[in-house]
Amino acid sequence: MIYNSVVQLIFLCKKNIYMEVSLVSGACGAEIKGVDLKDTSQSNIKTIKNLLFEHKVIFFRDQNINQDEQINLSKCFGPLEKHAYVKGLEGYPEIVRIIKEPYEQNAWGEGWHSDVSYNPQPTMAVILKSVEIPPTGGDTMFSNMELAYETLDDDIKERIIDKKAIHDSRGAEFFVEDYDSMESNGNIKVYSNEHPIVRTNPDSGQKALFVNYMYTRQIVGMDKKESDILLKKIYKHQERLDLTCRFKWTPNAVAIWDNRSVIHYAIADFFPNRGLGFKRVMDRVAVMGERPYQ
Ligand code: SIN
Repeated sequence: MIYNSVVQLIFLCKKNIYMEVSLVSGACGAEIKGVDLKDTSQSNIKTIKNLLFEHKVIFFRDQNINQDEQINLSKCFGPLEKHAYVKGLEGYPEIVRIIKEPYEQNAWGEGWHSDVSYNPQPTMAVILKSVEIPPTGGDTMFSNMELAYETLDDDIKERIIDKKAIHDSRGAEFFVEDYDSMESNGNIKVYSNEHPIVRTNPDSGQKALFVNYMYTRQIVGMDKKESDILLKKIYKHQERLDLTCRFKWTPNAVAIWDNRSVIHYAIADFFPNRGLGFKRVMDRVAVMGERPYQ
């Protein structure tokens, strides 16, 4: 039953309850009420996946799931990844605990990016749960890359058609150096892979722009200067506010995003005043994706 265009009440027959879906912005993101993330039954996972592929990023509040339950939920999307550089939690190697200490001013994930786009098979989805959050600051933004492709100038579309770009992992220091409580797993290799600039998301069937400011280095077969100018134009387009949504965290909230179709940005507005003196802790689990194709 639809009772207005931005909030939907959907009847879940199997459970005899209503689920509420509220759009977070006109571009992407929906906040879901009435879904329990501890429930990994086929029908619940189907509901969650459908919501994810429709809205690109979905949010749930007051989900008191423990680490085993977060892992179980994540496994329903596919095989899990271990982070290339950051040591996972004791007993839960797939959980990266993102920690900003009260005295720190950096946010892990600050800057627009798609997670591990430097891998041959970049992450399909991320399940991120808030553990401790500052009273203000530390929101996360998402930008819809299917919409970004759709709204891209035709001349840019023509210039990137059939083109690939090189993505580079930037090395271990990038992921641990500025974060006192995040530990390296000892890996010091640097990864570099080429991916199509426009990829197809097999689950939504849509084309998505697949470059990002953080990890993309150069368009393959294009002069470096020309590539830099073109990538800069694309990044500017990807950051258009009308393609984005912004989530304000509360404790025990969970975000699930389709990493193939959104880029995201952890906002470091902790310093020098807002949020200073507060810790931010998030538990991140990533699901392995397919090799990107056009
Ligand atoms: C990330 O970039 O994966 C972290 C996002 C966040 O902590 O909000």
